[in-house]
Amino acid sequence: MLEDLERAYQNALAELDEVADQDALEAWRVRHLGRKAPLMRAYGRLRDLPPEERPQVGRRINAMRDHLQNAYEAKAHALREAALRRSLEEERIDVTLPGRPKPIGRLHPTTRTIRHIVRIFQDMGFQVFRSREVETDEYNFQLLNIPPHHPARDMQDTFYVRTPGAQEGETPPVVLRTHTSPGQIHAMRFYASLNPENPPPIRVVLPGMVFRYEQITARSEIQFTQVEGLVVGRNISFADLKGTLNEWARRMFGQHVRTRFRASYFPFTEPSAEMDVECFLCGGKGCPVCKYTGWLEVLGSGMVHPVVLKNGGYDPEKFTGFAFGMGPERITMLRHGIKDIRFFWSNDVRLLEQF
Ligand code: PHE
Repeated sequence: MLEDLERAYQNALAELDEVADQDALEAWRVRHLGRKAPLMRAYGRLRDLPPEERPQVGRRINAMRDHLQNAYEAKAHALREAALRRSLEEERIDVTLPGRPKPIGRLHPTTRTIRHIVRIFQDMGFQVFRSREVETDEYNFQLLNIPPHHPARDMQDTFYVRTPGAQEGETPPVVLRTHTSPGQIHAMRFYASLNPENPPPIRVVLPGMVFRYEQITARSEIQFTQVEGLVVGRNISFADLKGTLNEWARRMFGQHVRTRFRASYFPFTEPSAEMDVECFLCGGKGCPVCKYTGWLEVLGSGMVHPVVLKNGGYDPEKFTGFAFGMGPERITMLRHGIKDIRFFWSNDVRLLEQF
């Protein structure tokens, strides 16, 4: 019996040498250490031996079993180590390689200018009021004191949307806004609705897209942005208009920049003025950008017309206000010497990458 077991034992050790993976190891364990393994069965056959031989044979069987068990565990450990080493080798990543750069987008130059403008007014206590891009003729023109056949409409032709059932020759009531000024009416009506008996004062800026039916050239586009401003309150004067816009110009273009106001005309402001800033490219000496005048026109402004105040729900006997409107594309072109407004819409990354 012991001879058979010795053979089985040597055989098991030899087989274990050949084992190369976890599955084979498990099969080996069942074969040589499982309940039906020759060695394990031998325990049951001990009682067939003469009593004086039993202890010695039993000790030998125990020794063989312990040895196989240890060899099994050593093999299992070795296999795990080998598997780990292999996976480290195969799935190795070189963390010292430089990463692949992700192209990071940036804000459009117009957006940057809008944010710059708006931030300055926010610092002065203005809130941002957003207003719709698709307007009615009433808001875009009539409530701003521009009646249907007013000549000021010629300068702001736009895209009319013919509504179903409209009569031939009738002015269609829906338009893409030609300026951000209709937002003045929306803002006044909103604030007035908060307390119609005693409407609160207003200090808002209204940035957004506007549209005009234009020949597209280096200087004019059919779509561009504006930033509108509106202040309404008691005793708001032209001095407030000048003080606010001068301060804005200093923060926008530099502490020492000079400004000037020129009388102008808008149907919705009275009196009206355009503001020029000293050419920040030549310092006022004269250059191609300022067409050798030393001045750059940056915005239109004026005291809110009494009719417009009334249309907004503010009593012109009690309230006054000022408004202004500027074009971020134009300001961006002046600041960066961009010669053609069409660049803003061509999506050419060679322009966009420069900002
Ligand atoms: N809405 C005018 C324009 O587009 C600008 C403006 C706004 C002028 C507010 C005066 C007051 O030309």
